[in-house]
Parts: sequence; structure tokens; C-alpha cells
Amino acid sequence: MPAFVMVGRKVCTDPKFSLNDLTGSTGRLDVLLRCVNSAFMLSNDIRRNVEIYLVLLGEPDPPRAILFRGKELKYLNPDERSTAALVKNALMKDAGADWVNSTPGIFTARKDLAGILEELGGRRIIYLKEEGDKISGINLDESDVFVLGGKEDLSPVEEALLDGRPETRRVTLGPRSLHADHCITIALNLLDNSLKE
Ligand SMILES: C[S@@+](CC[C@H](N)C(=O)[O-])C[C@H]1O[C@@H](n2cnc3c(N)ncnc32)[C@H](O)[C@@H]1O
Repeated sequence: MPAFVMVGRKVCTDPKFSLNDLTGSTGRLDVLLRCVNSAFMLSNDIRRNVEIYLVLLGEPDPPRAILFRGKELKYLNPDERSTAALVKNALMKDAGADWVNSTPGIFTARKDLAGILEELGGRRIIYLKEEGDKISGINLDESDVFVLGGKEDLSPVEEALLDGRPETRRVTLGPRSLHADHCITIALNLLDNSLKE
């Protein structure tokens, strides 16, 4: 099943964040919430074969990873506010190195990008980036792991981590810089079409 890994460099790890200020004091959690929406929401259905990992690196308690697993997911609605409440519940959990369940299909752990890549080891990594190989030249596969930045691009250290792995391909979706959630919609649409052929 395809997986997406999103890094939120400044996204807060405080479960007391305000649901009324998702675009401000949360460090742009709203960007990641839209990515969750794009990863799962179809018209009147949910993609059950997708996973998305949100890596939150903001204060006061980084790193925190939140995993949404389509197969088991419940209570996901199209609006950002209710997804933010699911993230809040996950952040309230006492997280350690191993995943703990928060609500159905949502898990949390104290992991950064390196920890998640370790866990997904062996699968091809498609690092989506404005400059890279054209996606039209790539045969996408259901086991691919797509890595993207959120409001900010990945840091040089995170980029070096990806580039240091033989299974990584830097891939562009086109010449314009896109919103991360739109990148997910495009990637899944291309995958849908390539699997149909
Ligand atoms: C909103 S962009 C990040 C900030 C953006 N680079 C800027 O200068 O404002 C979010 C992420 O989407 C991905 N992305 C954006 N445009 C893309 C493109 N044309 N091809 C592939 N990935 C893209 C990258 O992973 C990027 O880090």
C-alpha cells in the first residue's frame, strides 16, 4: 500500500493547541491536515489502502509522529477541524519508541524522519521535489513511499538522509511549486491510473 511521509518542521507537539487557530499558533498544522484529507478522501468513500505519517517537529516536545492507517481508520471527516481533534487526541498519548494506538486507525510514537524511514526500509522512496526526474518516466508502484515537505521544504540534513539511501528517487510533478496536499492528490491519481492499465 502506498505511504506518504510529511514533515511539519514547525508544527506544534502540544496537545493543548487551539482548534480555533490551526493556521497560526500550531505552526501550520492545517497544511498537514489537508494532506490527510487528500490521502484518504474520495467522493463518498475513503481510500483504505493508504497510510500517511505526519512528523511533527515543533515545540514543545519533538519529535512526534502520527500515523493514519486507512485500513482501520474511523471518525475521519473531510473538515480540517475534526481531523485536528484526532491529532490532538494522539498528542495526548504518552508516546515512546513504539507505536501506541490513539483512536481507530491512528497511532503515535516518538519518531523522526530517520526512524520512520528505518521502519519502511527496503521500499522505494519517491522524494517529491520541485527539481527532480520527471514523474512521467517513473513506473509508480503500490509499495512506493512518497516523502514531502509541509509548509517548509525538508532540511538539508533530512535531504541528505534521503539521498544517502539507494532506494531514493528525487521526482518532480512539474515545473510549478505546488501545495503539498495537491501533490498527494496528483500522486494518487497517477497511481490509480497506472494500476488500471
Ligand atoms: C508548499 S511546498 C514547500 C515550500 C515551497 N518549496 C516554497 O518555496 O514555498 C511543499 C512540498 O511539496 C512538494 N512539492 C511542491 N511542488 C512540487 C513539484 N512541482 N513536484 C514535486 N514535489 C513538489 C515538495 O516536497 C515541497 O517540500
